Amino acid sequence: MQNSNKISASLSQHALDAIKPSGLLGKKIIFYDELSSTFDKIKELPLTEGLTVVCAKQTNGFGRLGRTWESNKGGIYFTFALTPPFGNFEIPFVTIVCALGVCRALRDFLPCSIKWPNDIVCKSKKICGILTKTIAENGKISALLVGIGVNVNNDRFDVPHAASLKTITGKTYDENIILRKILEETEFVYTHMTAGDIITEYKKHCVNLGRQVTIAYKGKEISGICTDIQKNGSMTFSTETESIDIHSGEVSVKGIYE
Ligand code: BTN
Repeated sequence: MQNSNKISASLSQHALDAIKPSGLLGKKIIFYDELSSTFDKIKELPLTEGLTVVCAKQTNGFGRLGRTWESNKGGIYFTFALTPPFGNFEIPFVTIVCALGVCRALRDFLPCSIKWPNDIVCKSKKICGILTKTIAENGKISALLVGIGVNVNNDRFDVPHAASLKTITGKTYDENIILRKILEETEFVYTHMTAGDIITEYKKHCVNLGRQVTIAYKGKEISGICTDIQKNGSMTFSTETESIDIHSGEVSVKGIYE
C-alpha cells in the first residue's frame, strides 16, 4: 500500500503530462480546472479510443438514475472513450471491467471493495462511482464513454454514505498519481485479462456476495441473498421461492451505506 502521508498534489495538465500512462487509456489526457461535466466536454471532441477528459471540479456532475454527483475540488472527475468490439463485448460487462480496474488501483492506497455493479466502497461508504454511456451513430453503438468520480482529498459531502480517501485514512494524496494508477489498472483488465479471470477477481472484491440484497424488480421491492455474479456480469440472488438474475438496477446491500 502506498504511503501518501505528506503529499498533496492537485490535478494539473503539467503533472498529468509528466506521469501519464504510456498505454491506450490516457494516451491523450486533457485537463480542465472546471467543467459542467466531463461527459459534456468529451462529446464536443473528436472521439478516439483512450481519450480522457479530466477536471478538478464539475458544476453539473451527474451519476446513475439522474442523481447529482458532488464534484468539489479534491476529487478526480474524468471520462474516457472506449471502442470495444461491439457484439463480442457485452456493454454491461464494460462496467464490471472498469469497476475491477478502479478497485485494483485504489487498493494500492486503501482497502476497498466493489458494490455490484460498480460502486467502490470502503468501510461501508461510497468513495467512487462509475457511469457508462453509449454513443450511437446511424443507430449503431460506436463508442462507450466511461465517467468516473473518485473522492480523494475532498472532505465535505451532502450524503451521509459518501466518503473520500482522505476522510477515511486522514492522509492527503497526489490526485495525478491516483488517476494514472486507475487508467493503468483499467487498461490492464480491459486488454489483458480473460472474462473468466475478470469475474473471478471481481467476485473476490464484491461485497454483495452472501449478503442480503434488496432491489426494485417488476414494480416491487424484493429481497434475497446474493449468491453469485455470472460470467456476463449479472447478479444472482435467491429469495425464499426463486433465484433471480438481474443485469442492471439499483441494489441496496444490508450493512453497506447504512
Ligand atoms: C454513480 O452514480 O455512482 C456514478 C457517478 C459518476 C460520476 C462521474 S464524475 C465524472 C463523470 N462526469 C459526470 O458528470 N459524471 C461522471
